[in-house]
Parts: sequence; C-alpha cells; structure tokens
Amino acid sequence: MKSALVTGGAGFIGSHLVDRLLSEGWRVTVVDNFDPFYDPGIKRRNIAPHLEYSNYTLVEADIRDMETLRQRLSGEYDVIVHLAAKAGVRPSIRDPIGYQEVNVRGTQNLLELAREWGVKQFIFASSSSVYGVNPNVPWREDDCVLMPISPYAATKVAGELLGHVYSHLYGIRFIALRLFTVYGPRQRPDLAIHKFARKMLKGEPIPIYGDGTSRRDYTYIDDVIQGMRAAMDYTESQYEIINLGNNKTVSLLEMVRALEEVFGVKARLEILPPQPGDVPSTWANVENARRLLGFRPSTPFGEGLRSFAAWVKSLITSV
Ligand SMILES: NC(=O)c1ccc[n+]([C@@H]2O[C@H](COP(=O)([O-])OP(=O)(O)OC[C@H]3O[C@@H](n4cnc5c(N)ncnc54)[C@H](O)[C@@H]3O)[C@@H](O)[C@H]2O)c1
Repeated sequence: MKSALVTGGAGFIGSHLVDRLLSEGWRVTVVDNFDPFYDPGIKRRNIAPHLEYSNYTLVEADIRDMETLRQRLSGEYDVIVHLAAKAGVRPSIRDPIGYQEVNVRGTQNLLELAREWGVKQFIFASSSSVYGVNPNVPWREDDCVLMPISPYAATKVAGELLGHVYSHLYGIRFIALRLFTVYGPRQRPDLAIHKFARKMLKGEPIPIYGDGTSRRDYTYIDDVIQGMRAAMDYTESQYEIINLGNNKTVSLLEMVRALEEVFGVKARLEILPPQPGDVPSTWANVENARRLLGFRPSTPFGEGLRSFAAWVKSLITSV
C-alpha cells in the first residue's frame, strides 16, 4: 500500500485529493490545524467520509510546530503533498508576517522532515499569483520574470525556491504546481465564485472591484486533482514547476452572468475601486503540464459551475 502525507487535507483541494487517494487504496495521513480563516465546520464536513477509512489518519497539528510533527507523524511516506497554507491574496496584505510563518517557515519545516525521513517525492501547491503583473500572457513557467504584488504571492515564490534547495542538496524530487483559481464543490468561501453565489442567493449586492473586465483562468477541481495525482507519480526529473490552469480566461462580469444562469437569480452589482494585490488577469500556458503529466483540463466553465451550485445549495440548507 502506497503512503501519502497530505498537509491541508481538510481544506478544499486537499479533501478532494484525499477522496481520490482513498478510492485508490492509498494509506493517507492528513495534517491540518483547522485554521479559522474560514468556518472550520466546512472542513469537518469535508473530512467526515474520510474518517470511515481504516487507512486514513488525521493529525490535528500546526505545520509551524516542528516538535509535534516529529512526535505524531510516522515519517513513512512515499510522497508528501504540501497544501497547507494561509491562502488568499487580500488577507495577506493585512497579515504578511502570519503568511510568512505558515507558508514559508511551515513549508521549510515539511522539507526538513522530508529530508530527515528520506521521503523522495514532494508536491507543493504554488500559485498563479507568483506571475503577478507579468504582461507576457499566457504565462509560461520558463518566463523567469516573476512580478508578485502580494505577500501571499511572495511566500509561494519562496516555497518554490526552498524546494529547489532541498531537491538539489538532498535529492528530494520537488514539483511545484502553480494552481490557477480553482473552483468546484467545497471551494473556499473567500473566493469570488463562492462569495458571490451566497450573496446572490440572499439577494445581497455583490462587490465588483474595478470595471469587471479583470480575467481569471478558472480551473475545475477534478482537473486539478488529475494533474496533482499525475505529479505524485512523476519521476522523469528532480525539479519541476508546472502550471495547472484551464488555458481559457473568463472576465469577472462573464463569471457573474454564468452564476446568474446556474442559480436563476439576477445579481445586483456594487461597483468598487480595484483592490491592491489583485492582478488584472491570470492565464496559464499548460503545454508543460500536458507534456509532463498528460494534463488535459476538460471541464467547461458552465458545467463546473453547476456542480459547484449543487454543493453550495446543499451546504446552505444543511446549516
Ligand atoms: N484554491 C485556489 O484557487 C488556489 C490557487 C492557488 C494556490 N492554492 C494553494 O493550494 C493550497 C490549498 O488551497 P485551498 O484552496 O484548498 O485552501 P484551504 O484553506 O481550503 O486549505 C488549506 C488547508 O490548510 C490548513 N492550514 C492552514 N494553516 C495551517 C497550519 N498552520 N498548519 C496546518 N494546517 C494549516 C487549513 O486549515 C486548510 O484546511 C494552498 O497552499 C493554496 O495556497 C489554491
């Protein structure tokens, strides 16, 4: 039985990865501190089915706490998938040091443990935000012009660089996946699709920062999990940075119109000034992912939104 340590495995992306690994018969250990950034009740709900599996272990611990991690984790893992982080661009501007401690120091703690335990494969959730205001779209991984504009983005750049150090010095295969606005069931409530959906269903106005023309490369969760799972098996080289995006962009106003369609509700818009830290557009070149991981994002935006809508309605009616 293959064994994986998934940090952040109670969260949005992590819990989907755990679904997949358990269905394949992996032994899965999750480290998560149920950070109160958003309602931990949502995370408890995400992991409820996992607790039924005898090959699933939940360790409630903070990745900043090295001693607890050493004491409570067996170290016997084929792969570490490191997803635990303080996520979100705007909150990082209010709490840059907190983001640094979790996302940089916490990542280095996991890399240190990988070294101590002799773990050979380390997958890191990086972010499209590392490209920042780089105008050369669609963004390619070999464009070394990173222009991050938020503390969050800078912590993800730091994680990628630390990974290179540990890969080079200790032979740990390190794969950074630059994720592009992931959406679908269990999406974080701070992300625009989820936030807007709730407000629309309550009849509240939705805040549009800027003129609505900003664009995002929205990537459906099942497509991301397919790429992440392939990265866990990847053995061709020791260090890679790979975009996991959909390679199509959707404007903010198009996203709102699509939400109106799936929910059958007319949105009321509150136009506000652009937010510091927000980039005007994200757009992934996914050739690298296709070549190295066989990555083929295939979920049309409308279809992904319908699955999201069904989940969000079930969440609202269950609380
Ligand atoms: N969702 C996206 O669109 C997106 C885009 C780019 C990158 N990412 C990255 O993917 C990863 C997962 O994101 P997500 O959207 O699932 O977020 P999430 O907040 O749902 O999941 C992160 C999990 O990490 C846990 N965590 C936070 N701090 C911790 C700590 N100190 N110790 C232990 N656990 C801790 C949280 O409790 C949470 O369950 C993150 O690294 C995020 O930066 C996400």
